[in-house]
Amino acid sequence: MLFDLDALPTASRYKLLTATVVPRPIAWVVTQDAAGVRNAAPYSFFNVFGSDPPIIGLGVGNRPSGLPKDTMANILATGEFTICLVTEATLPGMNITAADFPAGVDEIAQASLATLPSTKVAPPRLADSPVAMECTLFQTVTLGASHSLVLGQVRAMHVRDEAVMDVERCYIDSPALGLVGRMHGAGWYARLDDRLEVKRVSAAQLAAKAEG
Ligand SMILES: Cc1cc2nc3c(=O)[nH]c(=O)nc-3n(C[C@H](O)[C@H](O)[C@H](O)COP(=O)(O)O)c2cc1C
Repeated sequence: MLFDLDALPTASRYKLLTATVVPRPIAWVVTQDAAGVRNAAPYSFFNVFGSDPPIIGLGVGNRPSGLPKDTMANILATGEFTICLVTEATLPGMNITAADFPAGVDEIAQASLATLPSTKVAPPRLADSPVAMECTLFQTVTLGASHSLVLGQVRAMHVRDEAVMDVERCYIDSPALGLVGRMHGAGWYARLDDRLEVKRVSAAQLAAKAEG
């Protein structure tokens, strides 16, 4: 089936993209407004885009009214945020923070989430997340009428001790993090405990194999 995204309405494009680009990692973004009121919300338009400098990206939509979501407004106001990664155990709390609370409501209190202080940015991190990234705003890119791309520079990372295999080499036991990914629809997620390994090959190895 061919879908012509140039001809489809925005809602249909959204459905096609979000039902096929799966599973997506989830950034649970913690921000503060200029008065220090804390905010948390999940964003699955999220990935890593570079390591020198270390850059992550978030696709943040506007509210239906056209006004920016609190996460976007707070990042633009303060230039700081933390990204906490999501496990099955933290999904219920994450889901509460996805509700459309008005600006000025402490969503971390609404979801009864425990926090720990960050070291380089003002927004705290969520204590039950196995990974937290302290970020500063690197750049924003307006993506048409509906979304903006927020690029953030990761200044520090906290990784749960049990998942750190070798601190000197920065070896992390990824499966031990217990992260979940976002799937299709409004409420589907995936556990990441069914893996397969495919070893990388070089062009030279492939050429040698072809020669027999
Ligand atoms: C798992 C999950 C992922 C989400 N990903 C995004 C996203 O990538 N971009 C977005 O604009 N909204 C996303 N949302 C919706 C926001 O979390 C929701 O609009 C929230 O109320 C925004 O809160 P804020 O105004 O405090 O930033 C997602 C919701 C869920 C449950």
